[in-house]
Amino acid sequence: MTHPVVVDTIRGMREVVSAQRAAGRTIALTPTLGALHEGHLAHVERAAQLADVRVVSIFVNPTQFTVAADLERYPRTLEADVEKLAGVDFVFAPSVEEMYPSGPTETKVTAGKVGTLYEGASRPGHFDGVLTVVAKLLSIVGPDVATFGRKDAQQLFLVTRMVADLNLPVRIEPIDTVREDDGLALSSRNRFLSAAERRAARTLSAALDAAASAGDRGIDAALAAAQGALMGEPLVELDYLKFVSPKTFMPVDDDYRGPAIALVAANLGATRLIDNERVHLG
Ligand code: PAF
Repeated sequence: MTHPVVVDTIRGMREVVSAQRAAGRTIALTPTLGALHEGHLAHVERAAQLADVRVVSIFVNPTQFTVAADLERYPRTLEADVEKLAGVDFVFAPSVEEMYPSGPTETKVTAGKVGTLYEGASRPGHFDGVLTVVAKLLSIVGPDVATFGRKDAQQLFLVTRMVADLNLPVRIEPIDTVREDDGLALSSRNRFLSAAERRAARTLSAALDAAASAGDRGIDAALAAAQGALMGEPLVELDYLKFVSPKTFMPVDDDYRGPAIALVAANLGATRLIDNERVHLG
C-alpha cells in the first residue's frame, strides 16, 4: 500500500483537494495532533468507508495547550506517524507559522458555557483553541466528512455543535474509543505513565463500567458505584466524575432518568487522563 503525500502549506492542501474534487472524488478528514496510535487508525479505517480520498491532519496546535510544559512535551513523531498511515492519500502537516503567521488569531470560535466545564475548567481557553483550529482545518481541507473520537466526548459535542451553529458544510462522524485489553482507553498520553500508574489507570474505565451497571438504580447508585471502584487506588487523583446530558452536555439533575454520559478525569502523577461511557440512568 502506498504512503500518503505530505503537504505542509495551506495553498498546497487546497490545490490537491481541488484536483480530487475536479475528478469527482469525496474527501474525509481526520484531524490529529500526531503521536498516532491504534485509536487514530480506527478513524482512518472508518474514513475509507466514508469517502474516496482520506486526509489526516497532523498539527500540534499551540492555542489549545494552556500549560507551556504540556505543549513542549507533546510528542512530535511526524515520520513515524506517516509510516503508520499506509493507504491514506494525504497528510496535512503545516508548521505553526503556516497556521498562525501573525501569532494566535484575534478572531476565535468560542465554545460557550460547556467549554468552561469539565476539561475546560482546568484548561481555560482550551476548547476555544480546539474549535478555532478545527474551523481553520475544515476551511482549508473542505471535507465532506470529518472524524472525531468519542474518547474526547466534550470535544466531539462542541465540534458537532459548532458545525450545526455555523452551518458548516461537513458531516461529523463519531468514532468509538479503542481500548487496551484491561479497558484503558488508548491515548497519546498513556506513554507518560509509569508501570504503577499504568496499572492504576485501568480503574478509570472500571469506574465507568461500574456506573453503567448500577445506572438503572439511579444517579446516586451509579455515582457510588463509580466512586467505589476509584477508592483504594491512591495513584488516581480524581478531578471530576459527572453525569451529563448527551443533548446539552450539562450535568443532569439528581432525579434524571434516561440516557447520560458518565465523564471521568484524573491525574496520575503528571499525566491527566480522561474517559467516558454512555450509561442509562433509571
Ligand atoms: O483531538 C485532537 O487531537 C485535537 O484536539 C484536534 C481535534 C486535532 C484539534 O487540534
